[in-house]
Amino acid sequence: MCGIIGYVGERPVSDVLLKGLKRLEYRGYDSSGVAMFHGGKIEVHKAAGKITEIEPLLADRKQKGLEGGIGHTRWATHGAPNTKNAHPHKVGDIVLVHNGIIENYREIQKLVHSKGLTPKSETDSELFAFLVHFEMTEEKCSFVEAVRKSFLKITGASSVVAMHEQHPGLIVGVRNGSPLVAAWNPELGAMLASDAQPLLDYANTVHYLENGDMIVCERNKIEFIDAHSGLKISRPGVKIDWSADRLDKNGYPHYMLKEIHEQSRTILDTLNANFAASGAHLPFDFAPHPGIDNLSRTDRLSIVACGTSWHASLLGKYWLEKFAGLSVEAELASEFRYRSPVLKKNQVLMGVSQSGETADTLAVIQDVNKREIPTMCITNVKGSTIARESKSALYTYAGPEIGVASTKAFTGQMLMLLLLAGKLGRDVAVNDSTGKAMGEIERTYRELFEVPHHLSNALMEGSPTAKAVKAAALATQNSKGFFFIGRGYSFPIALEGALKLKEIAYVHAEGYAAGELKHGPIAMLEPDFTVIVLAPHDMWYEKTVSNLQEVKARGARIIAIGHADDKQIPQMCDHFIPMPIKTKKDDGTPTMSEALNPFLLAPILQLFSYEIATMKGTDVDQPRNLAKSVTVE
Ligand code: F6R
Repeated sequence: MCGIIGYVGERPVSDVLLKGLKRLEYRGYDSSGVAMFHGGKIEVHKAAGKITEIEPLLADRKQKGLEGGIGHTRWATHGAPNTKNAHPHKVGDIVLVHNGIIENYREIQKLVHSKGLTPKSETDSELFAFLVHFEMTEEKCSFVEAVRKSFLKITGASSVVAMHEQHPGLIVGVRNGSPLVAAWNPELGAMLASDAQPLLDYANTVHYLENGDMIVCERNKIEFIDAHSGLKISRPGVKIDWSADRLDKNGYPHYMLKEIHEQSRTILDTLNANFAASGAHLPFDFAPHPGIDNLSRTDRLSIVACGTSWHASLLGKYWLEKFAGLSVEAELASEFRYRSPVLKKNQVLMGVSQSGETADTLAVIQDVNKREIPTMCITNVKGSTIARESKSALYTYAGPEIGVASTKAFTGQMLMLLLLAGKLGRDVAVNDSTGKAMGEIERTYRELFEVPHHLSNALMEGSPTAKAVKAAALATQNSKGFFFIGRGYSFPIALEGALKLKEIAYVHAEGYAAGELKHGPIAMLEPDFTVIVLAPHDMWYEKTVSNLQEVKARGARIIAIGHADDKQIPQMCDHFIPMPIKTKKDDGTPTMSEALNPFLLAPILQLFSYEIATMKGTDVDQPRNLAKSVTVE
């Protein structure tokens, strides 16, 4: 969850570390720190709070980074988020930053105490520095060897990056579980970080460390070592196709708002990338892909994911069942991994993960790999651990998502699952003598290319949709609580809408299948309560309207989202948010397949949460207690 960075090279070390830490801040942001050489000694600067807190401490430290420096932005696991527990930690000559959890920390703590020593912090991380210190002082190991031997003594998923006061110009990293990525180029020198984003400012080819790898970084080279054998290994470079300019806000006040608006483009990017690769002779064509081949051969798929990615997976279930007749379960990875799931040999297991690093999703994939069931994943990050551990990977083209609350990555996941459903469904429908199923698939495919246009119309400042979102947010911002309800494709979107509001506005919100309301939650309704009803004109419309009436009868405030030409719902609710499409085109044909409604509803709800959060003045991009990449259980 934490972000770690190390640099040795020509550029001013404090600039590189601070810029890199800002890129990594989405991973955790309760405290931060850097360590760098100054006057032949390693100085450590740290502070509780965000990176901006340590910036002034480095104002007069602008020397070249030839002696190296390391930095850290923290998401607390062991010990409160304060300056004492902030990284880097220094023990003797050793300074280090750590990401992950050392599970056998008690054992190491006892060892440290038995030698009459007391750690300065409450962290498990500092204990690793003691281990290295003991290896060097008692076993007379070299620094690199001491890091290696210490690493073999810890358990749990961790990455560590360390420096030594007597070895300027040398940075050592080790990885087990928590990601670590390196880059080197002649002008830059060597750099390593928890993910590729800070490296993109300097290089577009990066090297991912595998579990059990060590890296030794110097100004003129990087070397990889197998931590178990101590032997040199090679880790080939991976070209990253994101450019650093996609990491900036481009004039938007928040990354989240920028990313909400980017969705029209990212949907098109994902469509184009897939169909360009395939040549798109038929609707929903994909380039040959081993994962899709496996799906074509099975009638059963288990999807595992967490949080927002689970909501996308749930929606995938609806599409894959309907279009492709596939039996699909969409499960929370954290539950799935500790159950006794019954998996069939000929089925497929898919992980869905924006970051490609989520611990629970990764663990399921690793377990299922051992059972010889084909695994695959949908992820946004090439080279991520989940992408590499899965037997095959499909990528979304959302680009880097910096706002901690997921927006464009979510629509990217939805799209990829719909594309899969369309492709598998088409292959079945081609043999359907009625041609009915094929007709629906062809229509959905055609209309899919119109979604980015509708979405831009919805989100554009001053559009009827955007204005209605703002007005509804203004009127309901102080509600006692929010329910989001929907049926069919709108149910996972209701769950996601509620999660977004909780995450960024810290407001109590729950998502329900609209039919579930009367089975308990309806007791909560009173005039101070707001219910957001997702009511597009789809096959569930009449039933949703009945649920809306039940809510109205209990006096709760109602925001309804529906087609722009809906005559019924605007009369029944307090605030109506029109989707930028009508139920029918002027020639009487339906405007948009109902399977595509989530692509408009989800961004509208993202915008709603954003409006409420900004009205409340919360930290939209880095909400409290959260981190983007959840690499611990
Ligand atoms: C919410 C959000 C999280 C993630 C979840 C899984 O906005 O982003 O709920 O969806 O932590 O993360 P990934 O998709 O990286 O596996």
